[in-house]
Amino acid sequence: MLISKELQNFESANADVLVVGVSKNQNNVTNWNQFVDFFGQPIEQWMKDGDIQTDVKAITKIPFFSSKAKIKRIVFVGLGNRKSLTPDTLREAFGLTGKTLRKLKTSSIALWVDSFETDDIPSSDAVIIAAEGIRLGAYTVENYKTTSNAVDVSLEQVSFISNANIDELVAGFEVGEIYATAVNEARSLINKPGNMLTSTKLADYALELAKQYNFEIEILDKAQLEELGMGAILAVNKGSKEEPRMITLKYQATDKWEDVIGFVGKGVTFDTGGYSIKSKSGLVGMKGDMGGAATVLGAMRIIGELRPNKNVIGVIGSTDNMISGDAFKPDDVITTFSGKTVEILNTDAEGRLVLADAIAYAKQQGANYLIDLATLTGGVITALGYDKTGALTNNKAFFESFLEASVETGEFVWQLPLTENDKKRIRKSDVADLNNSPGSDGHMIFGGGFIGEFVGDTPWIHLDIAGTSDAMSAYDLGPKGGTGVMVRTLATFVERMTQEDIK
Ligand code: BES
Ligand code: ZN
Ligand code: ZN
Repeated sequence: MLISKELQNFESANADVLVVGVSKNQNNVTNWNQFVDFFGQPIEQWMKDGDIQTDVKAITKIPFFSSKAKIKRIVFVGLGNRKSLTPDTLREAFGLTGKTLRKLKTSSIALWVDSFETDDIPSSDAVIIAAEGIRLGAYTVENYKTTSNAVDVSLEQVSFISNANIDELVAGFEVGEIYATAVNEARSLINKPGNMLTSTKLADYALELAKQYNFEIEILDKAQLEELGMGAILAVNKGSKEEPRMITLKYQATDKWEDVIGFVGKGVTFDTGGYSIKSKSGLVGMKGDMGGAATVLGAMRIIGELRPNKNVIGVIGSTDNMISGDAFKPDDVITTFSGKTVEILNTDAEGRLVLADAIAYAKQQGANYLIDLATLTGGVITALGYDKTGALTNNKAFFESFLEASVETGEFVWQLPLTENDKKRIRKSDVADLNNSPGSDGHMIFGGGFIGEFVGDTPWIHLDIAGTSDAMSAYDLGPKGGTGVMVRTLATFVERMTQEDIK
């Protein structure tokens, strides 16, 4: 994206489309009168009549002609009442703007930044939010139709009309773009069909990422996992013709490999349920069972771009969960990498097995804090619906700090309890240390709690994104399909951790 390093005015802006925020109390906007002159039409009357809508998130696009300016169209973004406008709503309004710009095949825009700022959202924040919203909203899911839907024109150029400092605006917009690009990359991974994104391919993707950002990378193949005794991920992989992979990315910011935050992702490229097979309709969509892995890779991309002063490790356990004469079965007893044994009661509770080994490995590789991400249970959907990520933790302070990051990004997270009674049920087995499916009552807690058995005292947060990783229908910030949820929150959290001492 070409970002103009000079402030523009309405006449000089070298853009096809001018983007303007409009609200019920517009007169306070800096240079409003200048814009009214430039517009040359009774704009306030048009706003009153509803020809230009000021309702929050309403988008009005009108053709524009002036012999003095290059701008050919103006997109008005409704902000409702500026006083009650929140960053989340502004981001969504820009998401809808992004969708409009894509439909218009716009390649260059001028953002009148002053028209978006409010008392609570200064221009330096408004540009970050604008960049995020526009890029997220404009995202489309790749399809494989014979006539492809590849976008032929995409946004390439942006310039700013503002009274603010241009360097600050440019820097902010770039950050927003970095965040949104990483989310979109994660979405594309989630949207890839299982036949196109195997564990091997996911590892190839991680390798490219590592090369691009100079991460240390290790990709363990099946033979190496056998050597290391990673019996849990191997059990899940047993019925598959595809090899599993354990992928480790390291971003080292300080001389010593200490104070390391670990992101651990479930990378199940397709989940049939195994012998505890899913229903016909339950199988559809299970290409997205690697959403946790996609989130980790998305967050690592932002970290690679922004290079915060914090050591980060990303570990991804990846395999599909298939059926064959070799597949693992209920009643099997397996030995995990940690040494703990597990009685298999349900082969569809495979994510927690993959993560058991991935978590133990992340610890061995030096992670001092752990956040795991997984499309782990239908239980989280029953408990919280499709718009909230479910969380468990063993460390209140760590979780609260994380929660603040999630409030900043507008990604809703809700903690559920993990009690001694829950743990007792996870540990109940006549033949092994643990069982992988204690019951269907409140079972998001059993899924996450099982992973917690491999965490020890390390501060830990479990995020069950089964409801939030895949959108059932289009929404303001994106289309139906992979959402890339938690990519922005993880990266924001790392940024926050560089600023405060969380122990
Ligand atoms: N991948 C699924 C969870 C899931 C469900 C993700 C719906 C996205 C949408 C997971 O592996 C699974 O099958 N969980 C089971 C666990 C049960 C067998 C204990 C579930 O939630 O039903
Ligand atoms: Zn499953
Ligand atoms: Zn699964």
